[in-house]
Amino acid sequence: MTGWVAIAGLGPGAEALVTPEVTATLADATDVVGYIPYVARVADRPGLTLHASDNRVEVDRARHALQMAAEGRRVVVVSSGDPGVFAMAAAVFEALEAGAPDWRDLDIRVLPGITAMLAAAARAGAPLGHDFCAINLSDNLKPWALIEKRLRLAAEADFAMAFYNPRSKARPEGFARVLEVLRAACGDDRPVIFARAVSTPEEKLTVVPLTEARPEMADMRTVVLVGSSLTRVLRAGDRPLVYTPRSAPE
Ligand SMILES: C[S@@+](CC[C@H](N)C(=O)[O-])C[C@H]1O[C@@H](n2cnc3c(N)ncnc32)[C@H](O)[C@@H]1O
Repeated sequence: MTGWVAIAGLGPGAEALVTPEVTATLADATDVVGYIPYVARVADRPGLTLHASDNRVEVDRARHALQMAAEGRRVVVVSSGDPGVFAMAAAVFEALEAGAPDWRDLDIRVLPGITAMLAAAARAGAPLGHDFCAINLSDNLKPWALIEKRLRLAAEADFAMAFYNPRSKARPEGFARVLEVLRAACGDDRPVIFARAVSTPEEKLTVVPLTEARPEMADMRTVVLVGSSLTRVLRAGDRPLVYTPRSAPE
């Protein structure tokens, strides 16, 4: 039996936003590996073994997936959103690089998904319509000083920004500091979108000016989008439409 590993993105939450490619691959799998809440999104069926594990064991999970594929199993590693965005695809390649040489002969595929910032941007209008960057605000795998440096430089370059993992219970002060850095670096006001649990029944979108943004508006189910100096808010009925024009002046 030939094994394989597919690293698949389940999208932001709604079933309708899972790609047909991911659905078909899950239907052909013998094993699904991933963080507990993501594995819980996969329907159980005879012949499928679900391996749910806790957060922060990404490389162990990746090794387990590669080992099972080497033994001939058809393994899907699931992430939310897109697996290449702050998720399992890079962890699998880290395990591959450090692992058994014969793992490199395996059939390994990455199946894209709709990442949180794009789902959130679509709900809000087109805030990422011009140049933008994405920053993971978690300091689990990088120093806080690097996060602040990237924030300042992104603000200086006038990018719109998307922030993943904005605020956890373990480090509630980090996002307050992010807002301070942005207020100091941006020099003017700009729209901030707090998009929580996008495409799930708990979805909530809040649009405020940077001066009114508060740390408690974000949690770990929120992706935060910050406009550039060109980003505008249009009122359409009772709905704010946030967009960044495609062109920048000379
Ligand atoms: C570990 S990252 C995983 C990102 C994922 N791979 C993606 O592409 O969306 C988890 C962070 O993604 C964001 N996120 C994931 N799903 C979301 C959703 N449905 N609504 C808002 N933010 C979401 C939050 O910022 C959360 O803290």
